[in-house]
Amino acid sequence: MATAASDFSDKVRTDALQLVTMSAIPGAVAALARLNIFQALGRAGDDAVLTVRELAALALPGKAINITYLARLLRLMAAKKVLREVVAVGDDGDVTERRYALEPIGRFLVDEAFLPLLLTFQSSGFLQTWEHIHESVLDDSIAPFTRAHGVNAWEYFQQNPELGVTFNKAMAGHSEVYMRAVLDVYRGFEHVNVLVDVGGGFGSSLRLITAKYPHVKGINFDLPQVIGACPPLPAVEHVSGDMFKSVPSGDAIFMKHILHDWDDESCITILKNCHQALPEYGKVIAVNHVLPEIIHFEGGDHMAVQGDIHMLAFNPSGACERTERDFRKLGLAAGFKQVQTICTVDNLLAVTEFHKTV
Ligand SMILES: C[S@@+](CC[C@H](N)C(=O)[O-])C[C@H]1O[C@@H](n2cnc3c(N)ncnc32)[C@H](O)[C@@H]1O
Repeated sequence: MATAASDFSDKVRTDALQLVTMSAIPGAVAALARLNIFQALGRAGDDAVLTVRELAALALPGKAINITYLARLLRLMAAKKVLREVVAVGDDGDVTERRYALEPIGRFLVDEAFLPLLLTFQSSGFLQTWEHIHESVLDDSIAPFTRAHGVNAWEYFQQNPELGVTFNKAMAGHSEVYMRAVLDVYRGFEHVNVLVDVGGGFGSSLRLITAKYPHVKGINFDLPQVIGACPPLPAVEHVSGDMFKSVPSGDAIFMKHILHDWDDESCITILKNCHQALPEYGKVIAVNHVLPEIIHFEGGDHMAVQGDIHMLAFNPSGACERTERDFRKLGLAAGFKQVQTICTVDNLLAVTEFHKTV
């Protein structure tokens, strides 16, 4: 006989209910971001602890709003430790006032590092994709995003340039945060003179690398529609093209979050094009989420597995996060002689070098 729901422990019931209502969390964060609430709290300064009405006046001046709705969204943020709630209680025990301040996660969002990423994932175009995952399990010839829209994400960005810009800002913000951490531990740019960033987006990684190593000349390589929107950067030349045809030459090639967008065959094509563009002593420096062989439930392990499903949902068929062994196999198949993980950041991102010679 099937177990009745009441036979499960309260912990199991609560965890299951959390799981099925979880989309309320990014949905509420996105709503508050679209209403400028985090940004307004950030502008109010580090010590700001504001009432709902004060926040509304700062973020949405002159707008008639449903203050109760706003208050409910803010309470969820306090429950999730994005905001801190400070309450005043009257003599009768009633809460007379609720005030809100930024917690570290909220502050991180205010920095705008991750807001564009959240707004990309919470856009209707991306949300519709989730309805199609099961169809791709049954028939992987069409990726979930393409099932939802008839085109892949890169083509969708061309049709919806506003979302394309938000996505490119998201990746720039991601690089801004993680490349600083990579540069703290990775020393492999020290002897590089010309560094090509394949799929470099707006060039944020090269901006940080060339700032730390001024002798490095950067070549930022991406699709024409991305390069066309790039801001000029000192020490960086923007070049447009298609990495599946060829990539510019340099003594090292950098790729952050590129290989996880593609299936093995496409990755080998990209790596072969890099191999051809490098001198004998050259190397590819790839920064990727690295999947654990076995999940140990340490912070990064969880995140890599979660990110892997984002790759499945939003990228062409076969796109995935990979283990260190997977990267080694790809590199050897593309003609590299040595593939080595040099260091990791946050137990999540690995810096892997692919060398042409041993
Ligand atoms: C996930 S983003 C990573 C951006 C950047 N490397 C970062 O980590 O911030 C993938 C990048 O690959 C670029 N891309 C996709 N297809 C490409 C192609 N065929 N040739 C060159 N770049 C391409 C996209 O435009 C995008 O900037």
